[in-house]
Amino acid sequence: MNKKQSSSRRKFLQQFSFSAAALAVPALATASENQPPSFAILKRDNGFSNLDNINLGLIGAGGMGVEDTKTALMVPGVKLVAVCDLYDGRLKEAKSRWGADLFTTKSYKELLNRKDIDAVIVATPDHWHQQISIDAMRAGKHVYCEKPMVHSVAEGPAVIKAQKETGKIFQVGSQGVSSLGNEKAKELLKDGAIGQLNYAEGFWARRDPVSVWQYPIPADASAQTVDWDTYVSNTNKRSFDAMRFFRWRNYTDYGTGMAGDLFVHLFSSLHFITDSYGPNKVYASGGLRYWNDGREVPDVLLGTFDYPKAAVHPAFNLSLRCNFVDGTSGTTYLKLVGSEGAMDITWDSVTLKRNQSMNSDDPFYIEKLKTAGQEISDRKKMQGPESITFEAEKGYKGGPYDHMNNFFTAIRKNGKVAEDAVFGYRAAAPALLCNDSYYQNSPMFWDPEKMLLLKK
Ligand SMILES: NC(=O)c1ccc[n+]([C@@H]2O[C@H](COP(=O)([O-])OP(=O)(O)OC[C@H]3O[C@@H](n4cnc5c(N)ncnc54)[C@H](O)[C@@H]3O)[C@@H](O)[C@H]2O)c1
Repeated sequence: MNKKQSSSRRKFLQQFSFSAAALAVPALATASENQPPSFAILKRDNGFSNLDNINLGLIGAGGMGVEDTKTALMVPGVKLVAVCDLYDGRLKEAKSRWGADLFTTKSYKELLNRKDIDAVIVATPDHWHQQISIDAMRAGKHVYCEKPMVHSVAEGPAVIKAQKETGKIFQVGSQGVSSLGNEKAKELLKDGAIGQLNYAEGFWARRDPVSVWQYPIPADASAQTVDWDTYVSNTNKRSFDAMRFFRWRNYTDYGTGMAGDLFVHLFSSLHFITDSYGPNKVYASGGLRYWNDGREVPDVLLGTFDYPKAAVHPAFNLSLRCNFVDGTSGTTYLKLVGSEGAMDITWDSVTLKRNQSMNSDDPFYIEKLKTAGQEISDRKKMQGPESITFEAEKGYKGGPYDHMNNFFTAIRKNGKVAEDAVFGYRAAAPALLCNDSYYQNSPMFWDPEKMLLLKK
């Protein structure tokens, strides 16, 4: 352990014993008299911005567009004025949800032409993120763009350029990075709570048809109710296909597979927590094991990633897995493992587990120590808590609210967002390279600092 690591470890141990004592009162409910607390509350002092009104437009009013807008409308002073979607049903739903006087259109350009709109949410399928985001920033709008920021690695630099040139606020929608859970994990890692990071892993398990992208197709889906020509205008042209429109995640022209849809969240959180720029080697394997419904993407995917040593972290390895045929279903996790402990991280909790002792009761081990002339004492030692869980305070509005609030606060104060275009690209690229690795059956090499694809 180098000097810097040992001093941050000391800092953590000091803070840990202090916070354990300071938290003893709220934790008494869960800690018996002689036991240290195993539970602590996460809380943030959140300075709030002034309340200038912000007029919002929504582009892509499906599942996430609606959720994002509901979250945005929880932020004081935000008003929805216009909605764009390519399907009539979604525009009708928008009017019934948010009022008959809402402006609706099938053309995002018409929405962007409106002078009264300050900011837009882009929640279309992935193949439209880049073009609409760039057009929006060039039309003078701030942009909250859903993840993954882009549909392919090649698309990223143009978004970064547009953000730089226009100076508009641009936030990518991996909400976890603004959550209390991710912030606490970042703080704990920095303070040496798990020692030296050497490994991280993440997992998504799903099983029910809707969760694995077999969405219901509306009864009135047709070339009359859907603007199909616009939908495919930036990709391979085909005749109308309701599956490709409503179940777009299953097709590579529009979606980005499990990696672009799900791994990207774990990259965002991991990069936020570790301050990492990303891996330099990406390898993915998997297969289509069960959902033979015409999908072009695998339903089991494994990714391994090498993170090179950087100024802010040691070299470490990452393993990500996603299984859509998981009979146990419903598991998602992100774990960081270090030389002295590990953290299980969610958006509203962190469970920290630490090694109690490096010693062992194993008679073989003890015999070896004796042979080496080391003194063996049977005197018991003081022990810290084996595990402590930090949990968000009751009533916490959650990562999605914090992330949206971060976006609007940045607009009002002209400040910084948690996930700008550079951050969003560094999270999207290794996810998208998983797809390239899977289809090309080969590892992909990436320069995370310069954000360049390297030759094999
Ligand atoms: N951050 C998260 O947790 C999270 C969760 C779910 C989805 N997402 C992201 O949100 C985006 C949307 O996903 P979804 O599940 O809401 O999909 P969805 O199919 O429910 O909604 C997409 C909507 O976009 C519309 N659309 C398609 N092309 C358009 C265009 N060119 N102009 C205007 N509207 C267009 C469709 O008609 C549809 O209503 C995706 O990028 C997805 O990755 C993020």
